[in-house]
Amino acid sequence: MSEGESTQAAEWDARYGERGDAMWSGRPNGRLVAEVEGLTPGRALDVGCGEGADAIWLASQGWMVTAIDISQVALDRARRAADAAGVAVDWRCGDALQTRFDAGSFDLVSLQYPALPKAAGDEAVGALLESVRTGGLLLAVYHDLDHDHREHMRARGVDPDDYVGVDDLLGLLHPSFTVERHATEPRVDPPPGTPHIADVILLARRR
Ligand SMILES: C[S@@+](CC[C@H](N)C(=O)[O-])C[C@H]1O[C@@H](n2cnc3c(N)ncnc32)[C@H](O)[C@@H]1O
Repeated sequence: MSEGESTQAAEWDARYGERGDAMWSGRPNGRLVAEVEGLTPGRALDVGCGEGADAIWLASQGWMVTAIDISQVALDRARRAADAAGVAVDWRCGDALQTRFDAGSFDLVSLQYPALPKAAGDEAVGALLESVRTGGLLLAVYHDLDHDHREHMRARGVDPDDYVGVDDLLGLLHPSFTVERHATEPRVDPPPGTPHIADVILLARRR
């Protein structure tokens, strides 16, 4: 593991560790459910899977799921939740931008509120996008951050511009992708009390 990777891992482990037993709601993201429910299951990759609720939901729908997160603390929780739910997921602890997945190997690559550092470089992001199979879907969902929210994050030492955003993904999509939707829409089934009530969505299919 590189120094940058272990720093990131330690930061996310600390964030998860501060939140007692769970940082997230334990429910799958509403947008994922809305977009994927009813699709024929295949192989899915959940990038930055956190405590695993999306991966577990996908597995319960019949998908063969690989789920990666840089935080071991989050993945330990995800594993326990999957055991309790009685589903199997291939959990990977590591940096999604340093892990090479086979090109064209997933029917669905899902990034739900990812926090992937731009410092990893375009090639690494491009390789991740290349893991979508012909006919497969890329679904990337981001919080719609207004000016105040961005400033609030900067005041906490996190600059959203340092992270791979939806425009970066759009710029790196191979011409074999067709963008089916790039839109800002109300968040589906947001957790109670969250300030994040709108999503920026990118749905692209590989032809
Ligand atoms: C905002 S959370 C979203 C978690 C989950 N997708 C969800 O919607 O609940 C971002 C997640 O990305 C993970 N992460 C950050 N950098 C990563 C990287 N380089 N590779 C893999 N996971 C990463 C964090 O540990 C964290 O779990």
